[in-house]
Order: sequence, then C-alpha cells, then structure tokens
Amino acid sequence: AEDQDLLGRKVMITAGGTQEPLDPVRFLSNHSSGKMGYALARIAAARGAEVTLISAPSNLTKPKGVERIDVRTAAEMAEAVFKYKEGQDVIIMAAAVADYRPKEFSNTKIKKKDGDLLIELERTEDILARLGKERGNEILVGFAAESDNLLENAQSKLKRKKANLIVANDIGAKDTGFAADDNQVVIIGNDTQINLPKADKLEIAMGILDEVVKLLN
Ligand code: PMT
Repeated sequence: AEDQDLLGRKVMITAGGTQEPLDPVRFLSNHSSGKMGYALARIAAARGAEVTLISAPSNLTKPKGVERIDVRTAAEMAEAVFKYKEGQDVIIMAAAVADYRPKEFSNTKIKKKDGDLLIELERTEDILARLGKERGNEILVGFAAESDNLLENAQSKLKRKKANLIVANDIGAKDTGFAADDNQVVIIGNDTQINLPKADKLEIAMGILDEVVKLLN
C-alpha cells in the first residue's frame, strides 16, 4: 500500500530530547534517543515525501534524502519549527521537548558547596499547542508519553492541542518507548482509535504514516 503515497508532500518531523543548559558543563534532558522521529523521517522519505527533520542531539545518522536541522534547546527547536513550518503538509512532533528549563544560565561552572543546591526552573514554550493555535491546513500529529491514564490523557491532548492525531505512548511498559528499538502505541483521532501491536519503530512509523495518508486523501 505504501509505495510513493507521500510523493509531492512536505513533512516536518521533530526528534530527540532537548537539552536545557545549567552551566557550561551541565544540562537537563531526558532519555529520548531520536529513534522514533528518525524512523518516521526515514519511512516518510522512502514513501516520497520531502522531509525536514528538526533534531535535538542524537547519535543517529541522518536518513538518506532527508534535510536535518540540528537544534539543542526547546527554544531552538521552537525557532526552527516555526521557521520551516510554511508550506508543510504534515507536522509530526515526536521529540521529547523539555517542559522546563533552568531560569538562569551560569556562564561559569557552578561550584560545589556544603548543603543542598536549589535550581529554579521556568516553563518553555509548548510548540505543539502553538502549532495548533496557529494552524493552517496541515495535518498535525502529536505524541503523548504517558505513564498513567494513557488513553484519557491522550484524548484530552488531542482536543487541547487541536491536533489531528495523537500517538499515545505507554512509557510504563518494558522494552518500548524512550531509547528502545520497539514501541507500542495507540493512534487517536477525532473518532478513531488504532491499537498498533508492539513492533520495531520503523514498523510503528509505517502505521502512523498510513493514518496520516488517510487524512491527507
Ligand atoms: O526518541 P526515542 O528514544 O525513540 O523515544 C521516542 C519517544 C518516547 C520520545 C516518542 O515516542 C514520544 O513519545 N515523544 C513525545 C515525548 C513527549 O515529550 O511527550 P509529552 O507528552 O511530554 O508531550 C506531548 C507532545 O507535545 C509531544 O508531541 C511533544 O513533542 C510536544 N511538546 C511537548 C513539550 C513542549 N514544550 N512542546 C511540545 O511541542
């Protein structure tokens, strides 16, 4: 069914975990490896799409035929997403974007002292929510990494963020989710719910893009 069903389509995908620096040697981040986003980029390109991959730091190699934009922080990811947003047919937010960043960046390495150290955090911008607010005709796909109440939380994200699809990712399960080769997801649309069996992230990417193609046609 695949072949070139994304030929002539522009697809933007975010991947990886953002890094929020505290000082020249330390940052806050998460366990995202970029595998899910890179798999989506690879499959979308193989199916004919013109792919822009906005990548937080990742050890993975750039899939063939994909344009990769490297970013580090949530703020840099937001800037890149809105810079390249124009003309995209599909936007998929697979990145694990930090919700908080250190309020202050220390230009010098923070010194060890006696007692506890308190670090104040401030909110970052919610890129997916802004994409939903400023939507055009593009198909908007978000992820929801949840450790509890998977379906309820994903349903409410779909509405709140005005996305077309939310890929609900149960991160409580073993061998799937962050950094794993496999994933297990439920794809939630306005009146659809597709439970994909546990599979390699490339296989999961196929299933997600199948649903995107249905919405495009
Ligand atoms: O990279 P891997 O190791 O392969 O792991 C894949 C994954 C588990 C990271 C991926 O499948 C996944 O679930 N990505 C979303 C992780 C996440 O941050 O989920 P969330 O529920 O916190 O965020 C919800 C959605 O809002 C996501 O689409 C996220 O990209 C987006 N978001 C979040 C925060 C923020 N400031 N801006 C955003 O746009």
